[in-house]
This record gives sequence, structure tokens and C-alpha cells, in this order.
Amino acid sequence: MKITVLNGNPNPSNFDRYLENLRSSLEDKGHVVTQLDLRELGLKYCIGCFDCWTKTPGICDSDEASRAMGRAVINSDFTLWAAPLKMGFPSATLKMGFDKHLPLIHPYMVVDQGEAHHLKRYEKYPRVGMLVEREEDTTDQDLKIITDLFSRTALNFKTKLEFMETTDLDVGGLSNKILTPREGPHLYQKKPAPIPGEKISPPERMTVFNGSPRGKKGNTPIMLDELMKGFGRDYEIHHLIMVKGLEDQVEAFRDADCVWLGFPLYTDGMPAVVKTFIEALEPFKGREN
Ligand SMILES: Cc1cc2nc3c(=O)[nH]c(=O)nc-3n(C[C@H](O)[C@H](O)[C@H](O)COP(=O)(O)O)c2cc1C
Repeated sequence: MKITVLNGNPNPSNFDRYLENLRSSLEDKGHVVTQLDLRELGLKYCIGCFDCWTKTPGICDSDEASRAMGRAVINSDFTLWAAPLKMGFPSATLKMGFDKHLPLIHPYMVVDQGEAHHLKRYEKYPRVGMLVEREEDTTDQDLKIITDLFSRTALNFKTKLEFMETTDLDVGGLSNKILTPREGPHLYQKKPAPIPGEKISPPERMTVFNGSPRGKKGNTPIMLDELMKGFGRDYEIHHLIMVKGLEDQVEAFRDADCVWLGFPLYTDGMPAVVKTFIEALEPFKGREN
């Protein structure tokens, strides 16, 4: 079997050692493993130009790394999505890779599972599974949300998430899961439970973060502006795609009375640039307001 591992570990750690052992275990059984350490690949953020659908169909022209990743994924029999959790969600490094999967599907839509999904570009897509490393405070509910979300992403990429495992599972157990196709339905819940809302009375000062990779030109800041008009408040806005301003953005978050974070869906979740911002907020975890 040809197995591709997308390693979204942002820094060398025990997680890499786990993947090395996994690789040896699979290679010992005669399988061919290609591991891409995304942190070293030189991927750039997807900026939502859609050229991979309109100008160079099927190809992201922004960096060779995206094309190499696309080839490694689409030519595999199985792809493992692997990353430690950071601030409750797989790393920004892995999310950067996911955002660059767009060329693998067509812009056109079809009905699948009674829902609108993209048309496939390739005849065959790999089976997929996910491996994460828990944080100290990871709960079963966190893992359930991640499973729901990434099994939706798998469906969008014309495949099925066969498992979501943590590094608590030994390497032998994970390698068996990779080598044994799982029949059966998708792992996501059909009807996610509604999350209860909360009444708020917004303060005078609003701090708004625009997570659109298209920055000021995106749809998101238009919607954020309308929202702020609805509250009748002045606001300051920070465009997260201006990544050189990350330190200032973090300070603005620290000093804010009320924060709004707006972003477009990118492969069913936040764009990678938003995840980078959220990870930069880690020092404030658990802080009293
Ligand atoms: C890489 C990528 C992934 C996307 N994934 C989704 C998705 O999972 N679901 C969805 O409804 N739209 C998805 N979209 C569409 C964007 O959410 C949509 O174009 C949005 O209007 C962009 O907002 P912006 O102009 O503020 O950046 C995706 C677009 C891109 C470029």
C-alpha cells in the first residue's frame, strides 16, 4: 500500500518520534510510506484567489510545496492527517495544508448524502484517518467535535474519515487501523446538538478581527461592518492576513473589552491564518476577564 503522512507538527517533539515508529512498523510490513513534514515544506497560506479552479485548474500556482503535497495525497492509497492539538484544534500547520487541498476537487457541485458537495476531479481518492496528540485539557467532547468536523472535510474531499485516534493508541494499533479498511457510515453526527446562545450587552468599544485570507477585499469585513452598524458602535478592525502584524493583533486582543472574530469557512473550519492567530493567544488561556 502507498501511505502518505501529512505531519502537521509545528515543532520537533515526541509526536515526530511516534510517526517515525509508525513509519518503521508500516515499512516492515512492506508498505511504502511518504511522510511530508509540513513545517519544512514552505507552504504559503491559501489567499482564496481560486486560480486553482479558474486559471490553472487542479494546480495551486503559489508554491511548489502545495503541488508536491497534492501529488503525494492523490497518489496514495491511504493518507494520515496527523497533528498535535493546539488550543483545542489540530495545528495551524496542518490547517495550512488542508486549505491547499482545494485543487483536488472541482468547483462544480453534486448531490452526495442528500447534500451539495463538490464534484470530484480524480477517479480515485485515498482512504483517510486522523491522528492527534491531546493537550493537557483535551476532553472527549473536544475529540468528538474534531471528529465531526474532519469527517465532513473527508466527505468534501470525496473520501471517508475512517478513524480519529490520539497518540494514546500504540503504534501497532494505529498501523492495524491504517491497514484494515473500515466499512460503515461517516463518523459525523447527522444532527449536531444546538449550542445554547447567550444574551450580551456590548460595551462601547468593539475590537474586530477579520479572518478573511482576502483581507480588506473579502466578503467577511463587509458582514462585520454591517454587524457593527447594527450595534451602533465604533470599532477598530484588524486584518489577520497581515501576518506581520501578529504581535499587534495579540496586543489588541489583550486590551479589548469585546472581541468579534469573523472568518469564512475554509475546508469546513477556520482558515489557517485564523488558527495561527488563535494559537498566538495561548498565553491568555484561563485568564480572568
Ligand atoms: C480553500 C477554501 C476552502 C473553502 N471551504 C469552504 C467550505 O468548507 N465551506 C463553504 O461553505 N465555503 C468554503 N469556501 C468558500 C469561502 O468560504 C467563500 O468564498 C467566502 O465567501 C470567502 O470569504 P472572504 O471573501 O471573506 O474571504 C472555501 C474557499 C476556499 C478558498
